[in-house]
Amino acid sequence: MPTNTLSITDNRTGKSYELPVTDGTIKAADLRQIKTGDDDFGLMTYDPGFTNTASCRSAITFIDGDAGILRYRGYPIEQLAEQSTFLETAYLLLRGELPSKAELERWVHDITHHTIIHENVRKFLDGFRYDAHPMGVFVSTVAALSTFYPEAKRIDDEGSRQSQIFRLIAKSPTVAAFAYRHMIGMPYAYPDNELSYTGNFLNMMFRATEVRYKPDPVLERALDVLFILHADHEQNCSTSAMRGVGSAHSDPYSAMAAAAAALYGPLHGGANEEVLRMLREIGTAQAIPAFIKRVKTHEVRLMGFGHRVYKNYDPRAKIIKQTADEVFEVTGRNPLIDIARELERIALEDDYFVERKLYPNVDFYSGIIYEAMRFFPVEMFPVLFAIGRTPGWLAQWHELLLDKDQRIARPRQIYTGAGERRYVPITAR
Ligand code: CMC
Repeated sequence: MPTNTLSITDNRTGKSYELPVTDGTIKAADLRQIKTGDDDFGLMTYDPGFTNTASCRSAITFIDGDAGILRYRGYPIEQLAEQSTFLETAYLLLRGELPSKAELERWVHDITHHTIIHENVRKFLDGFRYDAHPMGVFVSTVAALSTFYPEAKRIDDEGSRQSQIFRLIAKSPTVAAFAYRHMIGMPYAYPDNELSYTGNFLNMMFRATEVRYKPDPVLERALDVLFILHADHEQNCSTSAMRGVGSAHSDPYSAMAAAAAALYGPLHGGANEEVLRMLREIGTAQAIPAFIKRVKTHEVRLMGFGHRVYKNYDPRAKIIKQTADEVFEVTGRNPLIDIARELERIALEDDYFVERKLYPNVDFYSGIIYEAMRFFPVEMFPVLFAIGRTPGWLAQWHELLLDKDQRIARPRQIYTGAGERRYVPITAR
């Protein structure tokens, strides 16, 4: 008997089946032949939250959650964070290989020359309430961009796909910075294409009256590293949203707005904002044990801890922790780091966290750095995550469109509602 199969005996019928196993996986559709009779739909799997279901084959990002390993296209995240740039990493994610010098120059040029947004987008931004959350503005504005580029609907046209990829990577920081300036009531600062991708983002965020904004090189590099760390993370909630909407052949702006909306949630990219609020609420190291008690009784969650995939230290959190010290040399120490480190120390010694393999994730320290960069308000944290994740979303979307196995995402359900009933007119209820 071949060994790469799975034998199943259905005790309801006594019948046996042999299913092929490929890459440690059986095809869910192969279970459909397992039936109790002709009117039986066939066996399904029940998997809320898709905790054990592979929705695609992907060559982009590899994670070994038990070992705490993250690689983009085979390259360890630690090496990329140390030696690459965000735009080079974006190229790697989207094109599969590191670029040559000429390829990188062309790529950077193409992205840099799409940074400006249509003036009507700016006017559209003006319509948001004065204190609109920048992530809400980001989600809506990315969706609105689809109306400016109607050719983006031609998702089968590689030329069009590449144009939208340049635009989305280039315009994400512009939309993000404009959303921030709107929130604080500052005039919009237009892109400066002489600066790096990240330097220009800092320029659009923080330029005041100076003619030319000069980003601090340490902060510029730190933010670039943070973008690299966030660039992709295989089939997480927002990427699944990107792929789910993309599978309906919607244009990439609409799909990315859906992805960003998913990222907005406090259990996903909104967690870094929640971490900061939590650290401020704790306030002092003395208050940590009482807070941990509340976590253990499930009254509150320790935000920035735990991960669906990592059952070990999130490798991104390790790099961020190191970056924090470099940033603090320029900005001065953020006192919240002491509370965070003490919280981590106490949590990692506590059985509750040890048994559940709960470690700091990427969001635990990122907010502290953003805040130390003295200007980023907490509302901007998920937006920063979205800028970093943009190439990953696009790489996954592009891969989905070229994957012959993919069809429109359409899970099944187990119906638990009422059987057929007769409609009762309102006068008789
Ligand atoms: N604080 C306290 N308990 C926790 C936490 C936490 N942060 N995370 C998980 N648990 C407990 C949970 O209560 C459960 O315990 P029990 O078995 O007693 O009911 C157990 O650990 C398993 O948790 P789960 O909710 O089933 O795990 P999940 O894989 O469904 O959730 C998670 C993963 C990230 C949503 C969750 O760990 C969490 O809510 N963390 C806090 C929010 C956060 O930091 N999110 C950012 C994730 S990393 C960035 C990203 O990619 O989005």
